[in-house]
Amino acid sequence: MKVEFYEKIWLCAASALLALFVGTILVTAASDAVLPPTHMETVDPTALANHPEFGSPGVKAGPDGGIVVSVVAQTFSFFPDPIEVPTHRPVTFRITSSDVLHGFQIVGTNANAMAIPGYVSQFTVTFNKPGEYPIACNEYCGLMHHGMVAKLLVKEESR
Ligand code: CUA
Repeated sequence: MKVEFYEKIWLCAASALLALFVGTILVTAASDAVLPPTHMETVDPTALANHPEFGSPGVKAGPDGGIVVSVVAQTFSFFPDPIEVPTHRPVTFRITSSDVLHGFQIVGTNANAMAIPGYVSQFTVTFNKPGEYPIACNEYCGLMHHGMVAKLLVKEESR
C-alpha cells in the first residue's frame, strides 16, 4: 500500500492534535484534582419541603467533627446563601435540585458538582484559605442562569 506524502503529513498532524487534546485533559485533570463522582443517593424532588434534611438546608456539625452543608438549588438561587464554614475542617457538601439541572461550582477551588433533581451530589473538601468564595451555577438552567450565584464565607478557625 502506498501512502502519499501529503497524506502522511495530514495523518501525523491529526495524530499530534489527538495526542495534544488527550494530554491536555490528563494534565488539567491531575493539576486541578478532578475526580469522578462516587456518591449515589436518591431523593424525591417533589417533596423536598418535607424532607428531614433538605426541608431546612443549612450548615450542621457532622458526626466526626466535620461540617455537613445541605444545599438546595432552585431556579435561580441556592439555599442557604451565604454559606459559612470554618477553615481546616472537612466540609461535606450535599447538593440537590428541586426543579431542573443546575451546577454548583465554588470558584477558584476544585469543588464542582451537578445539582440533579432526584439525586444527592456529595463531595468533601477542606478549605485552608479563609475568604469569600463565589459559588456559580455552571449548567444552563434558564433565562437568569447567569445570575444564579451564591456566596461561601470561609472563616479562620484555629486548629
Ligand atoms: Cu442554575 Cu444555571
